[in-house]
Amino acid sequence: MECISIAIDGPAAAGKSTVAKQIAKKLGIIYVDTGAMYRALTYQTLQENTNPEDEKAVMETLNKIDIRLAQHEDGQRVYINEQDVTEAIRYPDVTASVSEIAKHPLVRKKMVAAQQELAKDNSVVMDGRDIGSHVLPGADVKIFLIASVAERAKRRFEENNQKGIPADLHTLEKEIERRDELDSTREASPLVKAEDAIELDTTSLSINEVTEKILEICRPFIKKLGIR
Ligand code: CDP
Ligand code: CDP
Repeated sequence: MECISIAIDGPAAAGKSTVAKQIAKKLGIIYVDTGAMYRALTYQTLQENTNPEDEKAVMETLNKIDIRLAQHEDGQRVYINEQDVTEAIRYPDVTASVSEIAKHPLVRKKMVAAQQELAKDNSVVMDGRDIGSHVLPGADVKIFLIASVAERAKRRFEENNQKGIPADLHTLEKEIERRDELDSTREASPLVKAEDAIELDTTSLSINEVTEKILEICRPFIKKLGIR
């Protein structure tokens, strides 16, 4: 059976996971939220009081847990061993530390291998920071989503309000800028637009408009799946 792979990268809160989820549902293919893997490891290191700067200690934590992404009707659920951490990994303490954890080359090596394995014999839409540039360099479609920082902070603010997560617009804006900077400047597979990626500015686009644009770009490859 032929497989297709769609890579969606971009900075924080650009809309990657929301549109990736919609696309996966429309095409009936697997959605992989790679950020959730780094968030799950960060959650565990916080539980264990591991020093985020200590790569060896972080690796010890990673090597003794099983991070599992499960496909559910209502989206992806995230497990550490058998514990469901889907909601817990979105909390501000995890968000504040995740880029420190994700910068370690050994951590990335193990995460990237797991992500490549998930895409090996499956059609996937995968979102993250280094999917088109590093994880799936041969992806059929590579999208780089951007939006202004103000718009991204506003989106996260509204999302947090809906979920009952404490949030303040100014703090969110600063936090997004700080994380983008850390993710873009780290040495190991930084946040970067792959040369052959198509950039989409979503600042004034609705979720459905972004999804439709990406599906249009994917159309030549969708034929491989045997659907219209
Ligand atoms: O949803 P949001 O944009 O806030 O972040 P995320 O996609 O859940 O990713 C959380 C963090 O994980 C990012 O800020 C990166 O530090 C890291 N990450 C990464 O390094 N590489 C990826 N492929 C995905 C996420
Ligand atoms: O995955 P990423 O961090 O890039 O962003 P996201 O979690 O998919 O989107 C952040 C928030 O922005 C969500 O609440 C989306 O519903 C919202 N959003 C939006 O309002 N308009 C878009 N075009 C895309 C996302």
